Amino acid sequence: MNGYSTNALERLAKEYADLAIMSERKGKYEDAIKYYKKAAEVLKKIITLNRDIMMKETYIEYIKEYEKRAEFLEKNLQKLASGPQEGSQAQDVDIDLLVSPPPNITFNDIVGIEDVKKVLKRSIVYPIKRPDLYPKEIGWSKGVLLFGPPGNGKTMLAGAIAREINAAFISVDAASIMSKWLGDAEKNVSKVFSKAREIWLNKGVPVIIFIDEVDSLMGIYSTEVGGEVRVRNQFLKEMDGIHTKGSSELIFVIGATNKPWVLDMAFIRRFQKRIYVPPPDKETRKMLFKYYTKSIKIADDVDFDHLAEITEGYSASDIKDIVRDAYEMCIEEMFEKSIEEPPPLSMKHLKTALSKRSPSISQDMIKVFIEWNKKFGAI
Ligand SMILES: Nc1ncnc2c1ncn2[C@@H]1O[C@H](COP(=O)(O)OP(=O)(O)OP(=O)(O)O)[C@@H](O)[C@H]1O
Ligand SMILES: [Mg+2]
Repeated sequence: MNGYSTNALERLAKEYADLAIMSERKGKYEDAIKYYKKAAEVLKKIITLNRDIMMKETYIEYIKEYEKRAEFLEKNLQKLASGPQEGSQAQDVDIDLLVSPPPNITFNDIVGIEDVKKVLKRSIVYPIKRPDLYPKEIGWSKGVLLFGPPGNGKTMLAGAIAREINAAFISVDAASIMSKWLGDAEKNVSKVFSKAREIWLNKGVPVIIFIDEVDSLMGIYSTEVGGEVRVRNQFLKEMDGIHTKGSSELIFVIGATNKPWVLDMAFIRRFQKRIYVPPPDKETRKMLFKYYTKSIKIADDVDFDHLAEITEGYSASDIKDIVRDAYEMCIEEMFEKSIEEPPPLSMKHLKTALSKRSPSISQDMIKVFIEWNKKFGAI
């Protein structure tokens, strides 16, 4: 499959998606269903033809959303057909749904990465405590990009910082921004930022806009007919807005990505802090094993140093999974042997669990992150 035909298919998918949205807006629900399905089909084809295409995850999200929408329309066809254009009312995305109290995570739940926590506090907590200490000529950092291989705490960190400062937390990801029938993707970006400003002005609490998988904003087009503006450009504009318009507003944008190299310079520059969230080193892996077994009865033979030694390349999330898998074996033993309690978690359980899971982070992957960090990291 060469690049050209992939591009052609991508265009086709976009055409079908646009047709679907247009049809839906006009109340032609049957056409909309047909086109959503076609758009999903074409995207599936792209993925089967290019297994490692960069946009794969984004496309999978699109496919899910198109199929869900088609299904929704099919189910509600009768109702929609009799009501006055109900489908189009749903296009006003309810940004309120994205605003939540911060997730229930604190810095203490995040094992290791102490220097990352420190930079985050320096960037966000101190300006909130003493905004008066920051001369208006320089202000404080408003954009923080967390990057690093999957499963090492980026998403957790965003939640923990929001909780630490009691901020309103607006959490968006590519899927919610590009929920096309909820309105134009580009407008959703603006709505998120206006919502943040509204909360700040009305309630006077700091606001954290957390954009998970921020890399996927790079490739989403506006769906307005004739609109070729990338969602990316809208995002850049909004980021400039929070830097200039309200330099004293306590509104922060935290972006997280495990593919920072997808971002272009304009995008990168808007995040003044660019922080590498590395995979756990040996010492941290030891702490992770301890942390995740702290409420479990363990056997005398459990050797945390050894576990840390043999788990190079495993992410924090992998280690949590290994402990869970191992503990499940204990529970299974309890049921199978009809004993009162699970046997203590032993090295045998842990090693068996480990042998069934390969590390999710390769040496090559780490090299690429370290290179990127050398070039673009800023703390
Ligand atoms: N430093 C850590 N300490 C304790 N648990 C962790 C840590 N990092 C990750 N985990 C565990 O792994 C899960 C996934 O972590 P998280 O979602 O923060 O990863 P991420 O870096 O955002 O990954 P991705 O790039 O895939 O989004 C967490 O919910 C938590 O259970
Ligand atoms: Mg994450």
